[in-house]
Amino acid sequence: MGAYDDVYNGWKADPEGFWAEAAKGIDWFKPFDKVLDDSNAPFTRWFAGGELNTCHNCLDRHVAGGRADQVALIHDSPITGTVQKFTYKELLNRVAHFAGALQARGVEKGDRVIIYMPMIPEAAVAMLACARIGAVHSVVFGGFAPNELATRIDDSTPKLIVTASCGLEPGRVIEYMPLVHGAIDLSKHKPDGCIIFPREQVPDFEVRDGDMLWADALQGVSPADCVPVLATDPLYVLYTSGTTGQPKGVIRDNGGHAVALKWSMKNLYDANPGETFWAASDVGWVVGHSYIVYAPLLHGATTILFEGKPVGTPDPGTFWRVIADHDVRVMFTAPTAFRAIKQQDPNGEFIGKYDLSKFRILFLAGERADSDTIQWAENQLKVPVIDHWWQTETGWPMAINPMGIEPLPVKYGSPTRAVPGYEIHALDEGGHPVPAGQMGAIAVKLPLPPSSLPTLWNADARFKSAYLEAYPGYYNTGDAGMIDADGYIYILSRTDDVINVAGHRLSTGAMEEVLSQHPDVAECAVFGVEDQLKGQLPLGVIVLKAGAEKPLADIERDCVAMVRQQIGAVAAFKLVTAVKRLPKTRSGKVLRATMQKIADGVDFRTPATIDDPAIIDEVRESLAVLGYPKG
Ligand code: COA
Ligand code: AMP
Repeated sequence: MGAYDDVYNGWKADPEGFWAEAAKGIDWFKPFDKVLDDSNAPFTRWFAGGELNTCHNCLDRHVAGGRADQVALIHDSPITGTVQKFTYKELLNRVAHFAGALQARGVEKGDRVIIYMPMIPEAAVAMLACARIGAVHSVVFGGFAPNELATRIDDSTPKLIVTASCGLEPGRVIEYMPLVHGAIDLSKHKPDGCIIFPREQVPDFEVRDGDMLWADALQGVSPADCVPVLATDPLYVLYTSGTTGQPKGVIRDNGGHAVALKWSMKNLYDANPGETFWAASDVGWVVGHSYIVYAPLLHGATTILFEGKPVGTPDPGTFWRVIADHDVRVMFTAPTAFRAIKQQDPNGEFIGKYDLSKFRILFLAGERADSDTIQWAENQLKVPVIDHWWQTETGWPMAINPMGIEPLPVKYGSPTRAVPGYEIHALDEGGHPVPAGQMGAIAVKLPLPPSSLPTLWNADARFKSAYLEAYPGYYNTGDAGMIDADGYIYILSRTDDVINVAGHRLSTGAMEEVLSQHPDVAECAVFGVEDQLKGQLPLGVIVLKAGAEKPLADIERDCVAMVRQQIGAVAAFKLVTAVKRLPKTRSGKVLRATMQKIADGVDFRTPATIDDPAIIDEVRESLAVLGYPKG
């Protein structure tokens, strides 16, 4: 048995002892009374009775402990051609003042603040400022449309929205204020106003009553002290796609989150305090929350906020330039980013231009990592390339090759073994573990470890029905796969209507809700088809109403525009085709998985329950119009 087995078995033998030990990595204002409070199961609470402040653990502690002049945050924007660096002392100063500005606007412990920001330092400042005063932030990804933002405003009922005048995509400036004000116009809940960070690319924008510019909000305010919060108090709510258009508000609490993330940095990622750790993601996603902002700072590392793309800003060497310029030792991104680089620089010519000698490990997550991409990255970079698996709900990895404990032998296609804290099984429909090597629903034995969601925002019943009811005693991850005889986990597909487009989690149900609003669409279905670059792309099939008057091409164009307007460009919804009828079971269930298999050109058996097998040929013809299956 190696070190990994020792640590994993040690956790299993004494989970509370394990987490009590890990909790020593965090400063507590008041010690916890109980490590695990399961008295109100299934609503598990970690470190009950303990008091801490996450911002204190990210900043003040390091300033006091000798890291005041170490760089905490680097903003590198190949889009604007700028690099800014902030030491721990400078970041603390900015955060404390902005926290004071929030307090001056009446934000108190427990109040919600929506952060709708591009990848600029002020996004991290706003998050940490909320944490400092015990306010609950809800960051909304800048690629989401007003309608999605409005849904999140209504669910989280924020006191304020913190935003900027624009986001920058390559070759495109996205004005934020029309989107933010548009969302407020759509929402039932009305925040008091916005704090707006003006960017020079959009100096003029609408400022409504209650809105304030960032600099004005800071005028005359005193820096705020850290407000002690309970370990079980929420740090943030992050919305993620479920099976319907109503996203799920995943709650992250302060104590468990800080403990698990701090522990993960050395043990899982093998990152050291004082080193640069770079997660090339966006603060709007869970990876950005955990591994751009919180974990590197909890660990006393230097983190990078990168405003750019893996290719085109300006070339496929941009990642290597950032690694070399900022002495990145450990990096984390999505496989899609590497597929994009590989496509444009198959022989790694750009890699040779930079000194990557100190770069140690690349981690990939967010979607299935294909072996080709992993092996290409290994060959080019000559460092371990580690696939790992987790989700918004957990906030940190569930399966990984634990590089800081013991590098385990690699099996391509598997994110390796369960992280201590997670007992993972593949279950059959009756909720019984299947034999090694057989497919099942991937589920985690309760209780979930620290950092994992204690419940959904204002939705305890949905928390139970979405995650806990399918397999009593387990948390249902929504993923399907298998576990081999060596305990290696393989994540193969979703069991619900969630798809993964360029590492972004999207709901096909939400897209169907949009398409069905079209006056000429009688019925529709959206499913994910394989894509060489983005992993999956959404494809919509629509059934037209009898007597639809518009030409089909116009209706299809409308559908694409509606999804872009109502969900956002990030949905990448561009494929739509008309079918005469949707294939359904006799009980009326739409056979999305069957259509997906036809589009992907994989073998399938026509379900015995289909109401009319002739529909399969009709679907095949319609998909052929879009060029599916490919090749
Ligand atoms: N604000 C506004 N629009 C945004 C946006 C944002 N923050 N982020 C993306 N978009 C838009 C893009 O401009 C694009 O619009 P278009 O249809 O007009 O071209 C659309 O949403 C899709 O964006 P994206 O998924 O970024 O695709 P792309 O074709 O522009 O780039 C990749 C392709 C592979 C370079 C890109 O998907 C990528 O960098 N992937 C890595 C993903 C990642 O890091 N995920 C985080 C999980 S760890
Ligand atoms: P998100 O909540 O956006 O992080 O998406 C989580 C989902 O992405 C998981 O439930 C999986 O479906 C998928 N996913 C994340 N990481 C991996 C991985 N390494 N391999 C396969 N699928 C993954």
